[in-house]
Amino acid sequence: MDTGKQLTGTLAVAVFTAALGSLQYGYSLGVINAPQKVIERHYARSLGVFSERAADLSFNSTEPPEEEQHPSVVVYWSLSVAIFSIGGMLSSFMVGFVGDLKGRIKGMMMINVLAVAAGLLMLLCRMWKPYIMVISGRAVMGFYCGLTCGLVPMYIGEIAPKAYRGALGTLHQLAIVAGILLSQVIGLDFVLGNEDRWPLLLGLSGAPAVLQCLLLPFCPESPRYLYIILGKEEEARKSLSRLKGPYDATPDIEEMRREKEEADKEPRVSILSLICSTVYRRQLFVALMMHLSQQLSGINAIFYYSTSIFERAGVSQPVYATIGVGVINTIFTLVSVALVDRAGRRTLTLAGLGGMCICAIAMTVGLKLLNTYSWMSYVSMAAIFLFVSFFEIGPGPIPWFIVAELFSQGPRPAAIAIAGCCNWTSNFIIAMTFPYIQAWMDSYVFILFAVLLLGFTIFIYLRVPETKGKTFEEIAAEFQKGRRTHKDINELQQLKASTDA
Ligand code: GLC
Repeated sequence: MDTGKQLTGTLAVAVFTAALGSLQYGYSLGVINAPQKVIERHYARSLGVFSERAADLSFNSTEPPEEEQHPSVVVYWSLSVAIFSIGGMLSSFMVGFVGDLKGRIKGMMMINVLAVAAGLLMLLCRMWKPYIMVISGRAVMGFYCGLTCGLVPMYIGEIAPKAYRGALGTLHQLAIVAGILLSQVIGLDFVLGNEDRWPLLLGLSGAPAVLQCLLLPFCPESPRYLYIILGKEEEARKSLSRLKGPYDATPDIEEMRREKEEADKEPRVSILSLICSTVYRRQLFVALMMHLSQQLSGINAIFYYSTSIFERAGVSQPVYATIGVGVINTIFTLVSVALVDRAGRRTLTLAGLGGMCICAIAMTVGLKLLNTYSWMSYVSMAAIFLFVSFFEIGPGPIPWFIVAELFSQGPRPAAIAIAGCCNWTSNFIIAMTFPYIQAWMDSYVFILFAVLLLGFTIFIYLRVPETKGKTFEEIAAEFQKGRRTHKDINELQQLKASTDA
C-alpha cells in the first residue's frame, strides 16, 4: 500500500496506541526479575513457612534464608514466572480469530479487559492468598500478551505505508524493550521493588491498557480488514485518507483489490490447513525459522539470567549492569528503526545473527579465562553488550513483523498465530532449561548458542528473500516462483470447494 511517503498525525497516533500493547508485554517480561527475593519472602510468610530469624541471619548474605527455599515457595515462585508463557502459548493461537471477529481495533479493545483484570489481581494480591492472586494475574496477563503480540504487528503492518513498513513494524519491538527497561528501573528496591510496594509494581503492568482504551476510538480500522475481509470499499477509502491525509487512494485500493481477488480464489486458511498445506510450506518454514532464530539465539538467557551471568563474569554491581543492558537494548532498537527500510530485513538479520555468533564465542572465551586473566571480565561484559546490540539491529524486531509481510491476507492471521505460538514455546523452553544447561555445560554454555546462531545465519542466507519495499503481492509471488505445481493448484481447488460447500 503506497502512494508516497506520507506520515500523518493519525498514523502516528494509531501506531503509538497499538504499541502500548507491546509496552505492556515488555513490562510484564521484565517486571518479575528484580523483586524475586521480596516476593518469595511474602509467599513464605503467607504459606506460614517463614522465620524472621533466618531472614535476619541471611540479611547480608546473597543466599536466601532456608525457609524461602521451602519447596512450596519454590513451586509457587516458579509457577508465577512460568505461567505467563503458558498463557501466551495458549492465546497466540487465537490471534486470527480475535483479529477477524470484529476487526483489529475492537479486537485490541476487547482484550484490554484481560490486561486490566490481570493488573488488578496483582495489585490487590495482599487481600487474599498472594501466591494464588499473583499466579492468576500472571496467567491472565500472559494470555493477554499472546494476543497482543499478534494483533499489534498485524495492525501496524496493515496500516503502514510500504516505504515505512519496516520502521513502523520495528516500533513493536521498541515498545517491548522500553517496557523491559521501565520495569527494570522502577523495579529497583528504592523505587517499587521493595516490601511495601511490590504489588503496585506488578499491578502497574495493567496501566497501559487503560490508556490504550482511551486512545483506540481515535484510531482508524485497518483498510485491508475493511476492504479484503468485509468488502467495504468506501470505509476502506475513508480509513486510508485518515491515515495518509488527502490523496488519491485509487492505487492503494487497486492493490488491495488484486489481493482480495487472490484471497477470494483461495480458501479461508485455518491454522490446521496452513500447517498441512504444501502451497505455503516455504513461507511458513521461513516464518518459523525467523522466530526460532530470535529465541534460540539465547537472548532471553541474557535477559532472564543477566544478573547471575554478570556475577560470574566478575562484575561488582550486577543489577546496574543489567539496567545497562536494557539501555543498550533500547538504543540499538532505535538504530534498527532508522535502518530497516534502507538496509533491508535480510541484511540486518544476517548481520545481527552473525555478530551475535561472534559475541557468543567471545563470551565463552571471556568466561573460560576469567580466572587466568582478570581483564577477561571486560571481554565478557563487552561481548554481552554487543550481543544485545546485534540482536536488536535485526533478529529482535524483524521476526515480529516479517510474518505479516510474508503472507497474503488469506493465510496471514493463521500464520501469525502459528509463528507466535512457536515464539512463546521456544521462549518458555529456554527459560526453563537454561539453568540446567548452564550447570551442565558451565563456561561453554554460549558455545551452544554460537552453533545455533551459525546454523540460522546460513539458513537465512540461503532461504530468506528480501521483503523491503515490496507489495504483499510481490512477496507472495517471490515464494510461489515456479513452485505452484499442478498438485498445489489441485490442493487449492479442493480446499476452496470444501470451504464453499
Ligand atoms: C523480543 C523477544 C523477547 C525478548 C526481547 C528482548 O521481543 O521476543 O523474547 O525478551 O526481544 O529485547
